[in-house]
Amino acid sequence: MPAKGVDARVLTGESLLARFTALDAFLTEHQALWKPRPFTHLQLPWETTYPELADWLRGRSLEAAESAHTQPALLEAPEPFASLAAMSLSLSAVGELPTHALEAAGHRLNVDVPGRKWQQIEAFASRLQFADAPKHWLDWCSGKGHLGRRLLQTGQQLTCLEFDPALVASGQALSQRHHLHALHVEQDVLAADTASLLKDEHTPVALHACGDLHVRLIQLASAAGCKQLAIAPCCYNRISLTQYSPISSAARGSDLQLSLDDLALPMSETVTAGARVRRQRDTSMARRLAFDLLQRQLRGVDEYLPTPSLPSAWLDKPFADFCHHLAALKELSTIGPQDWSAWEAAGWQRLAQVRNLELLRGLFRRPLELWLILDRALFLLEQGYEVRLGTFCETPLTPRNFLLLAERA
Ligand SMILES: C[S@@+](CC[C@H](N)C(=O)[O-])C[C@H]1O[C@@H](n2cnc3c(N)ncnc32)[C@H](O)[C@@H]1O
Repeated sequence: MPAKGVDARVLTGESLLARFTALDAFLTEHQALWKPRPFTHLQLPWETTYPELADWLRGRSLEAAESAHTQPALLEAPEPFASLAAMSLSLSAVGELPTHALEAAGHRLNVDVPGRKWQQIEAFASRLQFADAPKHWLDWCSGKGHLGRRLLQTGQQLTCLEFDPALVASGQALSQRHHLHALHVEQDVLAADTASLLKDEHTPVALHACGDLHVRLIQLASAAGCKQLAIAPCCYNRISLTQYSPISSAARGSDLQLSLDDLALPMSETVTAGARVRRQRDTSMARRLAFDLLQRQLRGVDEYLPTPSLPSAWLDKPFADFCHHLAALKELSTIGPQDWSAWEAAGWQRLAQVRNLELLRGLFRRPLELWLILDRALFLLEQGYEVRLGTFCETPLTPRNFLLLAERA
């Protein structure tokens, strides 16, 4: 939902580069505010520049942070928060793509599809409008191929590419059960031979294919001469390199250098979880933050120490055991007698501070996501496509709700 007074339009033509340029300037100028992660810093570098904002954020509760998390720009916090929030809202405003009435889905086609996934598929499919009717859908990283089957109409063909053999087999069985003629191919789309599978008559569609996977599609589809494609990207940080490698000439000319941690920012919006899941997530983070305080003392080094992700059963251990095991895992010196409840309380206090300080980074979450997707859009523009970039559903259905439509005359 665009904020009041913000002009939210589908981006196309020259507005793609204009928006990219504005976002690039905003993100580059304020890197010091969004790159350092509160989780790994006891004190963030910007806190000395903006002490009033830092104190204000640090003084708030965990519940207050939680309630502002999905829409940090609506928080009335001291400057420069308010000005940055206004910039964030206007720079990330993008309109909804127009919908068209979908043919009714085949009988029981949504059986076996989780409800939310089916709604995403319906929303995605209802925004696909191309000058030429697609002849052959190519469902890229298709899972079981639910999206492709939903799109398939009489007279059209469908090929699904997926590398998980179990999903390929389930997809094939589902297509047979619905009497739909679809080819489910077991294929690693990153493999060299994938290029030979793309044909100019294909209309590739990709719903939530991760980083390298959808970038690969953009490159192969444009090289194969596909006339049209539709991509809703996801997980920009799932890439094989350790730094982001831009694909458009505008992004290649940017001063912004993005690490994997930076690329994870757009995905840091946590979906609304139930109370139990939230409690588990919070406990895990509070314990890690407490352990971080402890390890700094044990090592005598005031630096964050990365720890591996741990099985959730670790949260059932008493806190002291949790720390002993984690210290052993990290080969730290023996922990002497400790006031465990004080450490644990310090972890919870730090969690509240971290979550509130993260609200400032949150203002850059959507702008960075838009910068990344505009890199893809501008690359397609350079390849001779007309590009439309808009949203295909509301955020609660999926925060990864940008859809890129490209077609060549
Ligand atoms: C997030 S899921 C999306 C699946 C489907 N498009 C959907 O919306 O339900 C990503 C899919 O990509 C597949 N995948 C991951 N890496 C792949 C690769 N290298 N080649 C082909 N498929 C891959 C996964 O197995 C998974 O099914």
